Amino acid sequence: MNRYIDQLMSRMTLEEKLGQLNLPVTGNIVTGAARESDVAEDIRQGRVGGLFNLKGAGAIREVQRIAVEESRLGIPLLFGMDVIHGYETVFPIPLALSCSWDMEAIERSAQIAAAEATADGICWTFSPMVDVCHDGRWGRISEGSGEDPYLGSRIAEAMVHGYQGADLSDAATMMACVKHFALYGAVEAGREYNNVYPDSYHMFNEYMQPYKAAIDAGAGSVMAAFNTVQGIPATGNRWLLTDLLREQWGFNGFVVSDYCGLEQLCDHGVCASKQEAAIQCLEAGLDMDMVSAGLLSLAEAVRNGQCKKKYVDQACRRMLEAKYKLGLFDDPYRYCDTTRRSQVMRCPEYRAEARRIAAESMVLLKNDNQLLPLRKQGTIALIGPLANTRPNMSGTWAVAAVPEHYKTLREGLQDALEGSNAKLLYAKGSNLMYDAQAEAIATMFGREMRDNRSDAAMRDEAMRIARQADVIIAAMGESSEMSGECSSRVDIEMPDAQHDLLVELTKLGKPIVLVHFAGRPTVLNWETEHVPAILEAWFGGSETADAVADILFGDVNPSGHLTVQLPRHVGQYPFSYRQMRTSRLNPQGDFAKFTTCYADISSKPLYPFGYGLSYTTFEYSPMTLSSDQLPMANGQSVTASVTVTNTGDRRGTEVVQLYIGDRVAKGVRPYKELRGFERVTLESGESKEVTFTIDADLLGYYAPITDVCANAVPQWTLEPGEVEIHIGPNASETDMRLLTVQ
Ligand code: BGC
Repeated sequence: MNRYIDQLMSRMTLEEKLGQLNLPVTGNIVTGAARESDVAEDIRQGRVGGLFNLKGAGAIREVQRIAVEESRLGIPLLFGMDVIHGYETVFPIPLALSCSWDMEAIERSAQIAAAEATADGICWTFSPMVDVCHDGRWGRISEGSGEDPYLGSRIAEAMVHGYQGADLSDAATMMACVKHFALYGAVEAGREYNNVYPDSYHMFNEYMQPYKAAIDAGAGSVMAAFNTVQGIPATGNRWLLTDLLREQWGFNGFVVSDYCGLEQLCDHGVCASKQEAAIQCLEAGLDMDMVSAGLLSLAEAVRNGQCKKKYVDQACRRMLEAKYKLGLFDDPYRYCDTTRRSQVMRCPEYRAEARRIAAESMVLLKNDNQLLPLRKQGTIALIGPLANTRPNMSGTWAVAAVPEHYKTLREGLQDALEGSNAKLLYAKGSNLMYDAQAEAIATMFGREMRDNRSDAAMRDEAMRIARQADVIIAAMGESSEMSGECSSRVDIEMPDAQHDLLVELTKLGKPIVLVHFAGRPTVLNWETEHVPAILEAWFGGSETADAVADILFGDVNPSGHLTVQLPRHVGQYPFSYRQMRTSRLNPQGDFAKFTTCYADISSKPLYPFGYGLSYTTFEYSPMTLSSDQLPMANGQSVTASVTVTNTGDRRGTEVVQLYIGDRVAKGVRPYKELRGFERVTLESGESKEVTFTIDADLLGYYAPITDVCANAVPQWTLEPGEVEIHIGPNASETDMRLLTVQ
């Protein structure tokens, strides 16, 4: 590779090298008029390194042909896309996917996404998004794996392995891009594109681990975040992109900016011109510039010495290396095989996997008197504005989705009832919310579902239908565009019109199941108090409807567990189960003067991290530790074990969770932090011992830098002392033993 690239670079002009760093969005070639577009002319002139969001192997082949046959050096282009949770077969939104705690399923979802996307010409995805987030107001919490850096790291690895496989040049794998580096999930007040403030200690202990895990797993590229890190925009932050990423972590792929991230250095007020921003970013370690076209115009600055040429060479080399690793120099049309599409796209095998994984992602929050699973008999009323909408099913950030091929929930339930005596009635019951303008914001990009009937007329119809039913299924919550990019919200309760409808429905005194759609943690206080069964369905992707039916009628036993705790009030944010040890602790969470609490609500979550019910029940034996002492010397370990028994009457899967709580360390540590988990599937009556191996490395943390003037990075450390070892079904219900590290 090095020889090939040396030789190629020796033939490149400065302008051609800068061209490799340029990533325009497809713009006017989306229609397929590739030959006449401005982008096509730029490609001929060697001014483009890659393109993104062009769909279709035929269209991409044509654009690639221009690069290969009509540009001077014939360097192939990279074709990227936001393939975030599947392609045409859409998997659950990442927040939902994380609730499966199933690393094999998550890896498989990424593998299938790669198989489909590459059959459509894409060789590079802007995923995984691994931003840890403690704030449900942020709309992009939907795109990440929740609030925990340990679980987030395991998921990051699984995603990278899934996308990239064992061989990046395989025509069915694509390059991953870890984003948004770094700390984007910490946006202040949950407001999109806002600043972030974690200090170096919290940065490393709360946020950095998943990025590092993805890089250790071999991710080929990294996307710089929009936000600042320690006061300097990530896109132009040399400490972040070079000292930490490359020198400390050994990353050897390329770094791309986020959309116009380069020119936004001017918005941040750290540069006076785009040219200044381009020089700062390039010298900081940015290799590819998404949309700003700032690096592209650096030739003059390099010639007059304002910008060092070595940085251009370095970035160009990294871009060429990526293309080499993808096999594009061998065969620029490797990902443009137009015959593959018909074999893989939405094929029955992939859709069956997506259906299974969607059901695994859903979390049963409540099930009084075993209302669920429902029997396929009698009259069932399906009510709510999310019951019959097709475009909402796939969830936010499903760029390649083809909603016309996906079922509505109503269709899924109807299909499931086929051949039974049960009758399914339907009424919409309400709009998403009363205010039409607010609903328009919540249903952008073709998700519109507004009904012109009056609120009263819709409600009357729903009540008439509900009165005829034996059981009511309420399909309510957020529309898909209420989360995702630029969808921050301060009101995260059930939207008004739906809440009022639900209140009326409960007055009928009939059994009600709430199938709740959401792309974020929401506040479900009223629902928890008044509705006997609640399924958190999130957005399950293209197969959502069948997956919900599988759960409601008991063909699948729910096994999802929350990866974000659900709050009682939006005012609790930022909020995480990883509460750091604090002065004046108040373990009960209720008001007690001069303790850490709220005067008006409990400071506890409504549903804790790790929580999720099943149609069966599990019993945990007391935990045993193989020793209560752990010597710190290399290679020593102890084991923590519990026996889990399925005490119910059907097969089910439990997620057994290991938490630690370091009692005394130089840096303040959380009371509990996840450090292990295992999914166990048990037949009725079956028991299994689950064992976690605990060594010094597992117990470590990034120790604080005590000399604040030192230009150092916190290091993974373990200090002697007592550590609590907890095992349980969620973060709030654990059995604990003490381990002394010495
Ligand atoms: C988002 C990125 C995304 C990019 C390209 C940006 O606005 O922040 O996550 O990859 O657009 O679509």
